[in-house]
Formats: sequence, C-alpha cells, structure tokens
Amino acid sequence: MQLPHTQVAVLEAASADEARTVDALADATDLPPETVTGAVFELEEAGLVAVTEAVDETISLTEEGTTYARDSLPETRFYRGALEAGADESPVEMGQVIGRANLEGPQVNIALSNYARKGYGQIDSGEVTADPDTDPDDDAEARALETLTASDGDAVAVEIADDVLEQLERRGLLERTESTVRAATLTEQGVTELMAGIESAETVGQVTPELLTSGDWQDAEFAEYNVEADAEVVDGGSVHILRQTAERVTDVLVGMGFQEMDGPHADADFWINDCLFMPQDHPARTHWDRFALERPTHIDDLPAALVERVERAHHEGVGDDGEGYNSPWDEEFARAIALRGHTTSLSARYLSGHEIGELEPPQRYFSVEKVYRNDTLDPTHLLEFFQIEGWVMAEDLSVRDLMGTFEEFYAQFGIHDIEFKPHYNPYTEPSFELFGTHPTTGELVEIGNSGIFREEMLEPLGVDCDVMAWGLALERLLMLMYGFEDIRDIHGTLCDLELLRETEVTY
Ligand code: PHE
Repeated sequence: MQLPHTQVAVLEAASADEARTVDALADATDLPPETVTGAVFELEEAGLVAVTEAVDETISLTEEGTTYARDSLPETRFYRGALEAGADESPVEMGQVIGRANLEGPQVNIALSNYARKGYGQIDSGEVTADPDTDPDDDAEARALETLTASDGDAVAVEIADDVLEQLERRGLLERTESTVRAATLTEQGVTELMAGIESAETVGQVTPELLTSGDWQDAEFAEYNVEADAEVVDGGSVHILRQTAERVTDVLVGMGFQEMDGPHADADFWINDCLFMPQDHPARTHWDRFALERPTHIDDLPAALVERVERAHHEGVGDDGEGYNSPWDEEFARAIALRGHTTSLSARYLSGHEIGELEPPQRYFSVEKVYRNDTLDPTHLLEFFQIEGWVMAEDLSVRDLMGTFEEFYAQFGIHDIEFKPHYNPYTEPSFELFGTHPTTGELVEIGNSGIFREEMLEPLGVDCDVMAWGLALERLLMLMYGFEDIRDIHGTLCDLELLRETEVTY
C-alpha cells in the first residue's frame, strides 16, 4: 500500500494499544498539529485508525486569582486581622480590622462581602465579630486556589468540588476553557497494513509550471483536500461595513451621473445656515444643538457680495412679493465657526459658485461625509454620523423627479418600500422626510430628509433654475440593509467586533 509520507509517519507513530493524542503524534512525528489532524482524518477514512474525541477543560487562574493564591484571600486576611484585634471576644471597629489585615482599595469590599457568607463572623453597624471556631486553613476556595497553582491548570488531575469552581469563576478568580482533543488508535486493518509494509508516496499539494512542462504531473500523486479538517481561524483586517457601504453609495451615485463634493468639517455658520435661509434665531442655531469651535471662533472672510445678497433675502425675502424674517441679521454671527450639523453646507458652497465656479444646469453633486450634532445618544442617534448629501440642478424639476431618484437609489440596495411624509425645512418647499421599514422589527425608520430648494435660498446664491436636494443617513441605510437595531453596534467603542467580522456584505 502507498500513502502520503505524512500519513505514513502518523501511522507509524500510532499505537494499537493506546489512543495517542494529536499533540503526542505531532511531537513524535515532528509535524505541525494541523498536518497531523489532517492525516488522522485521512487514515480514519481509510479505516487504518480509529479516532476518539474528548472535550478537555483547562482551568487557569486569573491575575487576581494568582495574587490571592500567593497572598491569601481578602476574607481570610480579614478574619486573621479580626482575631488579632480580639473580635472573637468582643466586637471590634471595622477600620481596625482592615488596618491589621492590611487590606486596600477594592479588596476591602471583597473581604466584607465574603466574610459573612463563609461564616467567619458578622459585621454589624461597622463592628466586626469573629467566630473562633472557623479555620481559614480549611477554606475550600483558598485550598482550591492552592491546588490549581500546583497543578498548573490540569483539571483532570484536580479534585475540586464543582460548586467551589463555580464560585471562584463567578468571583473572576479563574477561567475555564474547553478544547476538543482528538486521539487515534491503530485499527486491526492498520496493524495489518503496517506489517505488510507501507510505501511512502510523495504527494503533490500544488500544480506548478514545472510539473506541467516536464509532464511529471501524469505520474504524480495529488494530495486530497479535506474540507472537514479544523483550520486555524485567521482574523485578518477587513474594511468596516460602514466604510464598505459608503463606498458603494459613492459607486451608485457616480453611476447615476453624480460628481463628488468635499469641504470643511468645521465651517462658518454662514455656509451651514445663513445660505440656507435659516433665520439667525432658529432653535437649531443655539448652542444646545451645535458644536462651536473654541479656536478659531470665527472665519476671517466671507464673500462680500454673497453676504449682502443673503442678508437682503433674510430681511426682505426675494421677488416682488417676497417676505423676509424681519429680524436682525448679524454678519459676525454668520462668521462663527461650528462643526457642520449637515453637509448641506457643501451644497451651499458649490451652488454659490464659490467652490468650483458658476455651474450651468444640468448638474448633479453628492457627498458621503460626516456631520456632527449635539444630540442625546440613543439606539438611533449619535453625536456624529454620515450623511449622504445630494442635489440635482435642472430647468424643470418636480417632486416626481425627487421621488424617482430615491426609488432608483434605494433599489440598488434592495430597498423598494420607501415612504414619504410631508415635512418642513426653512430652505426647501415642498419638503419630504423619507422612511424605510426595518427588516426585523417592521418599524418605520426615518432615513432622510429632502425637498426642492426655495427661491429665498437659490436667488442669493445666483441659481436661477430648479434644484432638488436631500440629506440621507448612511447608518440608517445600514440598519435597513443589515437589520441593526442599535446604531452603536456599528459605530464607536461599543461596536461589536464579532458582529462586524461575521456580517456578510450584501449586494
Ligand atoms: N439638511 C437636511 C438634514 O440634515 C437634509 C436636506 C438637505 C433636506 C437638502 C433638504 C434638502 O436633515
């Protein structure tokens, strides 16, 4: 019989009388355990060895457990301190006992909470009594810590009661880990074949150009794949799904003919609000909602002609029968810098001609960028998130164009049930909020805000055709795509790494 040389080595190292573990076989053959596991499975399939599996539990002390194994448990130290202070005769001040036991920080609480539980004595209104008949040398938990230190985690050799182990685990003093241990024993057939002599065949794991050109492939023995063998788990780096989705959004919008905008995260209120016909006394412009900059507090220059036109629109409105806010407008207020609460600041910059010059219709622009809001954190709100901003400039636009654009956009992400609700924005008329249905909870989730920019915004910017625009939340899109219920699953420090590793990218 011919076998690949790794299988021959394993077969020769295996015994008919005793089961040898993969680790032992790896030692004996000088092969890596993964290779031995693969060979063992092959040999099992060929009927040459029998494989048994056992779950092996290893118990190891945590750092805290090791400390107590060395310095003894806080509660036994407390008990000894109490005896020294005479608490077996009459109650003693707790502070005195703590001092004698030399306990500090969290150990004090640990000592106190275990003292009475273990029957060392009582603590009542800051006074400690000690039961003279208990023996700290008999403490089951302390003894278990000692045994574990001595046995070096080998649970099989250790005789410790389950409840003691559980208590120690609950106290965070030990950790239990389970692993599968496989062992192989030669079968009768294995012994027979070994006695008859087994030839070692060189197997080929990979086809090389040399094998092909030389023609050697015709005689080569190819190694078989074992798709059931345990393989090492490799957690390589990967692109975060939020970033992946942002990139897809970019691809989709570029595919729909949009060009990308970019611009400052910290910007003058002028671009964030005033250019959008947001009155200076609008509630969203108070310090509750915005993150102001401490340094620098103000932008130096704003385009003077534009400032004048924006100011006039705020005062008087636009057109013959226009109406303004009739409230004060202050340039100093407009020059104040804040973190942008929406990326509509970029739309204002581009539409005004300030960014890349005057634009002739038709035009389509977008951005997928971060925005900042002083919201209260909850499952659907973060202080910063990504907004998918966009606008289309053309001669005659209607609400149907706006809705059609969303249908086309969201359909690329498998979302076909967008709903629209009338809304109000100072800068759009009409305005619509967008909703989608959460795939698992079935709830309607707000996913964006949109509208057609109004004259009072466009005229000062020098735009004299229609512009429809929107701001959509990237994180909400992810919620609809992947079924996340808490935005913090995908953002920030509470983000669940397993979930991010395991979430399949959907297309
Ligand atoms: N700026 C709006 C928001 O942040 C989105 C929006 C942009 C709405 C453009 C209408 C037009 O909610």
